[in-house]
Order: sequence, then structure tokens, then C-alpha cells
Amino acid sequence: MNRILIGAQWGDEGKGKIIDVLARKSNVIVRYQGGNNAGHTVKFGKKKFILHLIPSGILHPGKVCVIGNGVVIDPEAFFQEVKMLEKEGVKVKGRLFVSEQAHMIFPYHRQLDRLKEESHKNKKTIGTTKKGIGPCYADKMARMGIRVGDLKYPQYFKERLAYVIREKNELLTKIYGDAPLSFAKLSKQYLSYRKRLLDFTCNTSLYLYEAARRGKDILFEGAQGTLLDVDHGTYPFVTSSNASVGGAIIGSGVSPTLIDRVIGVVKAYTTRVGEGPFPTEFEGPMMELIRNKGEEFGSTTGRPRRCGWFDAVIVKHAVRINGLGEMAIMKLDVLSGLPEVKIAKAYKMNGKILKNYPHSEYELVRCEPVYETMKGWQEDITGVKKWKDFPVNAKKYLRRLEDLLETPIKIVSVGSKRDQTVFL
Ligand code: GDP
Ligand code: IMO
Ligand code: MG
Repeated sequence: MNRILIGAQWGDEGKGKIIDVLARKSNVIVRYQGGNNAGHTVKFGKKKFILHLIPSGILHPGKVCVIGNGVVIDPEAFFQEVKMLEKEGVKVKGRLFVSEQAHMIFPYHRQLDRLKEESHKNKKTIGTTKKGIGPCYADKMARMGIRVGDLKYPQYFKERLAYVIREKNELLTKIYGDAPLSFAKLSKQYLSYRKRLLDFTCNTSLYLYEAARRGKDILFEGAQGTLLDVDHGTYPFVTSSNASVGGAIIGSGVSPTLIDRVIGVVKAYTTRVGEGPFPTEFEGPMMELIRNKGEEFGSTTGRPRRCGWFDAVIVKHAVRINGLGEMAIMKLDVLSGLPEVKIAKAYKMNGKILKNYPHSEYELVRCEPVYETMKGWQEDITGVKKWKDFPVNAKKYLRRLEDLLETPIKIVSVGSKRDQTVFL
């Protein structure tokens, strides 16, 4: 069974935890878009791992992990993550493969990401992770990117880098008044990664094709979330890749005919980190309450996450875009103890009711959520193992989400550990 796991909100839904749970029944786990802007948390026993680039399946011995062509790789971040895993006793060599076609992040990408964000101060910052993601994808599309496989041929690599650096230095010095980069230094730095990085590479699209033909089960690990998708998200407050289902196909080089299921992950409420419209964002003390209870601080940047009520309008949009066949609802435990819980089932704009997500930022910031209010539950649910043990009001909340999303809920997560997962 080949499954794609997609974040159906603004990222940080708990994909890392669910991948870790589903990886047990998969053979190969694939990351296909984004880069080390992602932060996927996995906890078991006394251990806590935050993975940025390497698929969360790596924590299961014997599983093969793939970083597909659609991912952008910062070599330093990659080596650091490999080192962290090896230090923790996780064997990586021989079971992690990187696509030769994946684009590499260079220091000028990070520098431009930062400069662009700073130059927009007080106007339109995106609130990026400053990992160089946007500038790297921009270069890919502008056909000015440098791929991991280019390191195979040092002379060719140097020619590409020399060509790119000429333009970057113009940008850095003339537009941003920053220092130019040294070609010699950068070329030496990246060629020093050559052997270490190439040792991990292969034709990952072919590898996945052959694995599927041999009956292996592939699990695709999405990064970010549908509302951060560059096409289908809250543009321009998005990331620079396709975090929705199409990204899995393009970013891994696997045909859609090989996919059996698409699973959506959402929190029982909503969070977002960085700037951009967020119709159900809390005001007042609820923000602090849920942020503290849910430990809503970014896994990659440590920034406090913005929190709000569950927004069925955006999630229904994600259900449709991705063809989600089932949902995992995360962090239901965080809502315990509230007198009431709310769900936005539509928006109101200029007196008109909108049932579908409006694409334009102009419209979204003018939307007021139309809420439905339900009774909360007071019981601690972190030990619940079966549907029948959930408090009545928690069951009603879940059933209402199912109705609104017209999609069955198959997993409910009641805590961050592996065993705090209820299968329905
Ligand atoms: P990802 O980017 O989608 O993988 O999500 P993150 O790892 O960035 O953020 C999710 C956070 O919620 C992590 O700190 C997880 O340990 C935590 N988490 C996941 N599921 C649950 C849950 O059901 N309950 C609680 N309380 N925490 C959870
Ligand atoms: P995971 O995989 C939440 C957000 C950033 C910013 C916008 C653009 O852990 O769910 P970028 O650095 O990508 O150019 O930033 O996207 N963002 C995320 N938010 N979870 C993520 O990943 C994110 N990756 C990027 O905060 O608003
Ligand atoms: Mg995250």
C-alpha cells in the first residue's frame, strides 16, 4: 500500500508523529518537497527527535528512507542531521538515499532570504525560516540551480557555480549593498562535500519504481501543509514548494497510478507560524492558554506559533485539493478542560456567506469566521486507547468534524508519544 501523508493546515500538524506511527507498516519513507524549513517531531520512550531533512521513518531500524528530487538540500544541515542520528545510535548509511536531481541550498540563498525579509521590515515580511528555501526554489525555476548530482563532475560544477555567482554578486552588492561572495571559497567548500554527499545518492525515482514493483510499501512524508502550498495556499504567505498532493508525484518521480491512499493530518485546532491571514486566530487569553498547553513553539525556529479555532473552511479546501480519503486528528488532548470549543464552518465577507476558501489575500483578510459552538469536555484524555473511552463531548466534536469535512477520521492523537494514538 503506497500512502501519501499531507498536512492539511499551515504545517506543524503532527506529521512527524504520524509518519513514525505509520512507518511500522511501510518499507520505504520518502520526503519529496521543502527542505530544512520543516521540523518533524518524533517522541518515544524518553527520546525526542526533531527531523528537518531526513524522513521521520529513519528512526525505525531496517526501513529505507529517500530524499526525493523535489527537496532542497542544505549540505551542512544534512550532515549535521546524519551526525545527530548516528550519535543517537541510529544507523543511517546504506538505508538513506538522496536524489541526484535535488537542488542544493548555497550560502547565498540563505543570505538573500534574510536580506529580502529584512528589507521588507514593517511592510510585507513573510516570516520565513531564513533557511534559503525560497531563493533556492526560485533558482531552480529560473534554471540557475545547482543539483547534488552536479558534484559528480567537478569541472562542470565549477562552471555552473561561476555562472550563478556572477549574478548573485550583482544582486548582493548592487541591490542589497552586501559583500560579494568568493567563488574560490564556495567552490572549495562544496567540492569538499562531494564524496560524503555522493555516497548517499542514487536515481531515487528508479529506486522507488522498482521498490513498488517488488511489492514494497511506500510512505510519502509531506512537509509544511496545504495552506502553505505555493499554488493552493495563502499566497504570498506560503513556502516555495508544492506541499499539496501533486508535490509528492513531481518531487519523487513516482506516477500517481502507484498511489493507493492520501491521508490528511490536522490539529484539533489551528496554528500558523510566520505572517499571513489566519481567520480563526485567537484573541486575548485563549492564545496564551492554547500556546502553552499545546507547547506551540516552532520546531525549527523556536518562534511562538499563532493559535486559533479549527477552521473547517481551509481543511475542506485541503480535502478537495488533495483528495484526502481519511484524516488523522492531532492534539485533541490540548482542548480538554475548555467550557466550549468552536469550529469555523464558513466565512462572512461584506455581509456575504462564503462556504469555500477564497484564494485572494485581499479577500481572506476581510473574512470573519462563522462559528459553531459546542460543549467542551473536562476529562484528561491522554490515556484514552479506544473510541468508547472518549468523553461524550469529545466524540461529538470528532463526529462533527467528520460531517463538516465529509471524510472519515481514522486516527486520533491524544499525546505526543507513539502509544498515545487511537485508531478508529
Ligand atoms: P510536524 O511538522 O507536522 O511534524 O509537527 P511538529 O513536530 O512541528 O509539531 C507538532 C508538535 O506537537 C510536536 O511537538 C509533537 O511532539 C506534538 N504532538 C504531536 N501529536 C500530539 C498530540 O496528540 N498531543 C500533544 N499534546 N502533542 C502532540
Ligand atoms: P513542517 O514540515 C510550519 C512557514 C514559515 C513561513 C513560510 C515560508 O514542520 O510542518 P520558508 O522558510 O519555507 O520560505 O517560510 O512557511 N513554514 C512552516 N510553518 N511548518 C513548517 O514545516 C514550515 N515550513 C515553512 O514559517 O511562514
Ligand atoms: Mg513542524
